[in-house]
Amino acid sequence: MPNTEVSVNTPVPHKAERKPDPCIVVIFGASGDLTKRKLLPALYHLEQHGLLPHDFAVVGVARRDLSATFAPDMKDGIVKGGGVEESDPKLAPFMERVQYFATNFDDDEGFLKLKAYLADLDTKFGTKANRLFYLAVAPEFFADIIQRLGKAGMATPAEGASNWVRVIIEKPFGTDLKSARKLNDEVNAVLSENQIFRIDHYLGKETVQNILVFRFANGIFEPVWNRNYIDHVEITAAESIGIEGRGPFYEQAGALRDVLQNHIMEVLSFVAMEPPDSFAAEAVRAEKLKVWRSIEPIPVTDTVRGQYGPGTVDGKPAVGYREEERVNPESQQATFAAAKLHIENWRWAGVPFYVRAAKRLAKRVTEVTIVFKQPPLHLFKTEAGSSDIGPNLISMRIQPDEGIALRFGAKVPGPTTNVAPVNMDFSYAKAFGKSSANGYERLLLDAMLGDATLFAHRDGVEATWALYTPILEAWAKEKIDLPNYAAGTWGPKASDDLLAADGRAWTEL
Ligand SMILES: NC(=O)c1ccc[n+]([C@@H]2O[C@H](COP(=O)([O-])OP(=O)(O)OC[C@H]3O[C@@H](n4cnc5c(N)ncnc54)[C@H](OP(=O)(O)O)[C@@H]3O)[C@@H](O)[C@H]2O)c1
Repeated sequence: MPNTEVSVNTPVPHKAERKPDPCIVVIFGASGDLTKRKLLPALYHLEQHGLLPHDFAVVGVARRDLSATFAPDMKDGIVKGGGVEESDPKLAPFMERVQYFATNFDDDEGFLKLKAYLADLDTKFGTKANRLFYLAVAPEFFADIIQRLGKAGMATPAEGASNWVRVIIEKPFGTDLKSARKLNDEVNAVLSENQIFRIDHYLGKETVQNILVFRFANGIFEPVWNRNYIDHVEITAAESIGIEGRGPFYEQAGALRDVLQNHIMEVLSFVAMEPPDSFAAEAVRAEKLKVWRSIEPIPVTDTVRGQYGPGTVDGKPAVGYREEERVNPESQQATFAAAKLHIENWRWAGVPFYVRAAKRLAKRVTEVTIVFKQPPLHLFKTEAGSSDIGPNLISMRIQPDEGIALRFGAKVPGPTTNVAPVNMDFSYAKAFGKSSANGYERLLLDAMLGDATLFAHRDGVEATWALYTPILEAWAKEKIDLPNYAAGTWGPKASDDLLAADGRAWTEL
């Protein structure tokens, strides 16, 4: 299909007016993969752009004594993972503010020592007792760490003091409705809701935030963004990789818990919500919640689960899920999950949202496709084949190859009136240059600023779990014949059947 590139006016460089207060970012689980690969590079990108406060420090906390190696290891992560030159003039002074403290998460004494250690750093770096705790740890530690922070008197500012304490909690937040409620109760017993920042790194992505800009900052899309013009919506989060050695994790999680309940539902809420009256956290969260609560209970017959068997990915043979390391050879875990959702409100009634998330599909792509209703094409029916142009589409590419494409019909040059589909394509990289940001920059900055707009609220987490928990329960009760798709394909036949039953098909990605 021919592509027409969209020209973009010279972009204005982003200038942030907001700068966080002096503070210490304390990362629990700092010897883990997330800290080195994402968090430290993101913090350094903020420093490069002058967005960190002058009085600032980072403290990594984990079990082993890594005081000698932590800072050099993090520097390695910033250089290799963050695309930063080793000679970057801000790097050496930044690394001096990267510290390490060893304690076991179950050690009350260790938390008291940590408290004293942070107070010393306040004196050294002028960080004014403001704390952003980041729980980059396995979920079984979330509640324990927060309870110990409370016990050590670190979870709330001292009475009458003006400092702040905030806590970022990684995913997954619960494994079903009951566990999410329990975790919310445990966390809320120590912290007030405005101290809690439940992170979903998808919301740090420019392409996800841009969904709201695309819809609400332009005059031409919103008038057609409803059931009068839209036939259906597809949201796909496809990965070509398998589980990458994370067998025990994936055996517990699966595609529904790992991606469908959180990332896909966040994206769906941005696509479907009404315009909020501001970008304040309460306003945006309220609109998202309305969308999730308007979704009809999902019949299990409107869901599809699958598991990859052996196949070929990128020309190389790939093993099936059951042959992966530390996976039960008879596992019933779903590496593919799809569902048809109905949002029963005035904007969306009758417009199905088909969502799917999976490992080992034909290609890595996360995309939202808005499929418009076909216009009457009678006018073009006299020319052979000319009416078969497909519907108009808006494709929002979340990752990789971030951008937006609009598909429409155009006249094929020639003496007859033949119509063919063409794409008008906007590419983030071409318009704004390639960015080395990984999405955590915006979220870390917002948390330091106390802005929770892009973080999940208690009610939202419970609303999405309420939708999917009955599906998880139904799937657990009934064994099916797995594996049911070959690695490197687009998933089980039942996934195509889900749309075919409605006279539709997944858009080719
Ligand atoms: N990795 C990613 O890209 C990614 C992406 C999205 C979300 N997440 C989420 O982020 C969280 C962390 O992921 P990760 O991959 O960085 O984890 P990880 O590599 O497994 O790291 C675990 C960390 O926890 C520490 N730890 C474990 N038990 C401890 C204990 N009893 N006392 C003190 N420290 C203890 C380990 O310290 P020692 O080394 O000293 O044992 C290590 O620093 C998880 O919730 C994950 O779901 C990760």
